[in-house]
This record gives sequence, C-alpha cells and structure tokens, in this order.
Amino acid sequence: MLTGGGDCPGLNAVIRSVARRSFQRGHEVVGVRDGWRGLVEDELEPLGPREISGLLPRGGTILGTTRTNPYKLEGGVERVRETFERAVIDALVAIGGEDTLGVAARLHDEYAFPVVGVPKTIDNDLSGTDYTFGFDTAVFIATEAIDRLHTTAESHNRVMAVEVMGRHTGWIAVMSGIAGGADVILIPEQPISVEEACAELQKRHERGKDFSIVVVSEGYKLTYDSGEQREVTQEAELDQFGHVRLGGVGEQLARGIEERTGFETRVTVLGHVQRGGSPTARDRVLATRYGLKAADLVHEGRFGRMAALHGDAIVDVSLADATTELKTVPPDWYEVARAFFG
Ligand code: F6P
Repeated sequence: MLTGGGDCPGLNAVIRSVARRSFQRGHEVVGVRDGWRGLVEDELEPLGPREISGLLPRGGTILGTTRTNPYKLEGGVERVRETFERAVIDALVAIGGEDTLGVAARLHDEYAFPVVGVPKTIDNDLSGTDYTFGFDTAVFIATEAIDRLHTTAESHNRVMAVEVMGRHTGWIAVMSGIAGGADVILIPEQPISVEEACAELQKRHERGKDFSIVVVSEGYKLTYDSGEQREVTQEAELDQFGHVRLGGVGEQLARGIEERTGFETRVTVLGHVQRGGSPTARDRVLATRYGLKAADLVHEGRFGRMAALHGDAIVDVSLADATTELKTVPPDWYEVARAFFG
C-alpha cells in the first residue's frame, strides 16, 4: 500500500481496513514509504496487526507521503518495477488523488501493473466517485472556523474573508460556505467579479447587517468587471505534477473589498489546518468501506480499478476514467450557495 500527494484525514483508516481484510485472507501486507518515492527508492516496511492498531482516529498517514512522480525521474518507472519484482509484490493499493492515481492508471495501462486505487483528497475533485474521503473532515473544520468568525465579525462590524483550500475546484468553499451561512462565496468554476461580490456586501449592509462572511477558494482568480483575471500564487515553481503553490488570494480580496466598500475587512487563511487531525465519523466509515473494496479488488485480481462511492453504494470504476478530468462544482451546487448571498 502507498499513500501519495497531500495527506488527509482517513488515510490511516484505509490502511487499517485494507490490511485487516487482507490478513483475514492470509495475505502479507507491506507499506511503501512516502508514496511513489518508496517504490522508486525501494523503501518498504512490513505491516502487521501491531502496526495497524489504533489507526481509526489518527490523522495523517503512518506511511508518509510525497508528491514524487516516477514519470518525472530518470529511470523512475523502471525502478518502481524493479522494487516490485525484488520484493515479490503481487498487488499495489494506491491511496491518492488525481496525481497519485494518474500514475497508477498509467502504469496499469502501459505495463499491466497490478494496481487498484482508493480516492483520497480534501478537495473532492476526483471524477468517478461522488465523494473522496477527507473532504467531509475539511468541510467540518472550515465550517467550524466560519462559525467562530461569525461571532467576532458581528462584534466588530467587520467583513471576514476566509480563504479555504481546494486548488482548481471550489468544493470546500461551497459546502462550508453553505453550512456556515457565507454571504458571498468565490470559487474558480464560477468566477463572479470582485465588484459583484462588493455589491452583494453593500446590499446586505443596506438591509441593516453590519458584518459579513466571505469565503474564497484559494484557486479563485481575482476577476474584475474589466475582464482582467489574476491567479494568486505563493511561488512560481511547479511541483512534479505541474502544480503551483496557491495561497494569498484572501488577502488581496480583502484589500479590494475594503477599498471599494469602506467596510473594515480582515482575512483568515485556514491552510493546512483543514488537512490535519482526526477524521470525522463519516470519513472514517467511508475510508473503511473503500479499504474493504480495495482489498476485494486485489483478491479478485481486478486491477486498474478504483473503489468509488455512487449514491450510498461502494462500487468500482476504471482508474483511467477517474483520472482523465477533474470533477468541478456544477452550476446547480453554486446556485444553492448563491441563494443566500447578500
Ligand atoms: O490537494 C490537497 C491540497 O491541500 C490542496 O487543496 C492545496 O492546494 C494543496 O494540497 C497544498 O499542497 P501542499 O501541502 O504541498 O502545500
């Protein structure tokens, strides 16, 4: 088993679940250190009942994680295959998001690599499944933060801008914004302009409300009525999967709101708090169900598949289909949020 990409609550619950079912079937289970890096550099560790005990409430991943992409390293893929042969591994369970599972899909396609996937990410942007595990916890944390910001916003008659994660999609922003009663939500998929956002806040103040909550997704491009759009990043360097490090849009938005409306505005960047700590009960259950499904897929030799949630049922889908394009927030979800703007 390996865990790759950004960590999220519930990874350890998947590890426990895959291992428990596999032990019952007499399989040996081995953990790979730090995502694909462990297969490139041959760093494996046995996982027995003792290693997987007490994992359900534990955040992070006991296996470690990196954003290593074997396809971007000289001889990386060959080394992954060599490690597999040397250690006589029969199957890999890759627990990750679009990047980690994208590598898994490619390895399966090109080398019939015996891999199954489990969909992880707080961003909830993976196709082929209704929900990834980790998302519920992130939304819970963001909602709690919004609730807390409400009381201080109200006391000081301020606008509070909250920047949440989500990279290219606004799932965390929309769900936590709906749950927390945000007055404006800005996401990459439906880029309303800064001027429109200000108009909503002004409307609200005209109705007699002296404070407001604005939720902005880190991937929202600052958009102006002039048509100008600007992504806010922390550094220009790309990671091995071609991603820039986002962050800082909340601060710039807050300044824009203050200048245009005159309302005192503060910003809170939730950052990695959204990824840390114990998973919610819902994420523990989802992670557990995904883990059992992944172990079953391995046992049945059904490689190139990913455990997925459709409605309330755990099913399996093709890894290739799940990683071809991102699952973005559809307009009807944004409409639910928008009904409460202003
Ligand atoms: O994909 C999960 C995620 O938390 C994104 O929401 C965010 O943009 C990114 O990872 C942050 O990555 P890092 O932990 O490398 O700063």
